[in-house]
Amino acid sequence: MNKVKVGILGLGSWGECHLQAYQSLPHVEVAAICDINAERVRTIAAQYGIADYYTNEDDLIGRADIELVSVVTFEKEHLKSTVKALEGGKHVLVEKPVTTDLREAVAMRETAERTGRWLIPGHLLRFEPKSIEVYEAIRDGRIGRPVSMYLRRSRQQSLFATYQRTHTVYELMIHDLDLAIWYAGSRVRNVRAYGRSVSGADVPEILWANLEFANGTLAVLQSNWMTPDEAGIEIHDAAEIIGVNGMARFETEPAGVQILNRQGRRTTDLSVHNRLGGRIAGALREQLNFITQCLMHRQEPVHTSFADAVHGVQVADAIIKSAKLNRDIRIEDLDV
Ligand SMILES: NC(=O)c1ccc[n+]([C@@H]2O[C@H](COP(=O)([O-])OP(=O)(O)OC[C@H]3O[C@@H](n4cnc5c(N)ncnc54)[C@H](O)[C@@H]3O)[C@@H](O)[C@H]2O)c1
Repeated sequence: MNKVKVGILGLGSWGECHLQAYQSLPHVEVAAICDINAERVRTIAAQYGIADYYTNEDDLIGRADIELVSVVTFEKEHLKSTVKALEGGKHVLVEKPVTTDLREAVAMRETAERTGRWLIPGHLLRFEPKSIEVYEAIRDGRIGRPVSMYLRRSRQQSLFATYQRTHTVYELMIHDLDLAIWYAGSRVRNVRAYGRSVSGADVPEILWANLEFANGTLAVLQSNWMTPDEAGIEIHDAAEIIGVNGMARFETEPAGVQILNRQGRRTTDLSVHNRLGGRIAGALREQLNFITQCLMHRQEPVHTSFADAVHGVQVADAIIKSAKLNRDIRIEDLDV
């Protein structure tokens, strides 16, 4: 079998997850990896048996055999690597947030259009079973067109030390923003947001956003970095989607497996990326499987949408602005 050859730029904590997920796919070969941190890339290459590793992204992008590149670098530095990889003839999966700047998102989209390469946003919840089931229930009429959506995302306090490098709307809420846009099948017209910092950090640990879509759908998104680590809960998310025919809802934490022992109580992630029975499983693997299967069969990966991702960045900007100015922001007011 001719394998799909991929490369990974950025081998931090999430880039390593990409590597594990790709290596679990029998039709994929990770041909090369790259990180600017020489020690990190050398260690990861040795651990996972990758012969070709680099500290300069040009060396990876210059490889003729690589078809797909995962960009898993720092949130605010995705533009340069993405544009270079597209111009180097690669298809690109760029992690969320695709960027934290609307002009950069538009530049990425234009480069993909010009080069004719696929540009896929790393919005992996479109590959997560609960989120897909809600989408299907909207589309097949079990709950029908959504009128009201509530999406909550809570993460452990200690993670904020690292991820406050990016605004909470881009680090956490961007996932729910993408789901809300996908579910509503419409564009956001009006935003009212509120942020609160408990620790005095520059970005809020708690963020609320009320969205009104052009088709009338309402959404309330709430993201926070406030779950005490001692509670032992990795992922604490909830959703309630009220449609014209019914409602869909879930709460992840009580439904997850809880391990109670002398160390206390632990509820681990079973949906995004984990090792079950020695095998890698979760939405990240599903996402990478889908994209590489599309490549093998030369089928456009229509399940994802970079246009939605650009709109997500536009709405995220409006959320930051609304929370800062303490007023409504109309989306058409923004300069796209
Ligand atoms: N989809 C998800 O659920 C999910 C989960 C976690 C992180 N992420 C995203 O993944 C990205 C990376 O996050 P992380 O937690 O792994 O961060 P990290 O800080 O652990 O790792 C980033 C790595 O990128 C490397 N890097 C930076 N610029 C580079 C370049 N030009 N070329 C090669 N390597 C470069 C750094 O040296 C570092 O090792 C972020 O955009 C983050 O938001 C997504």
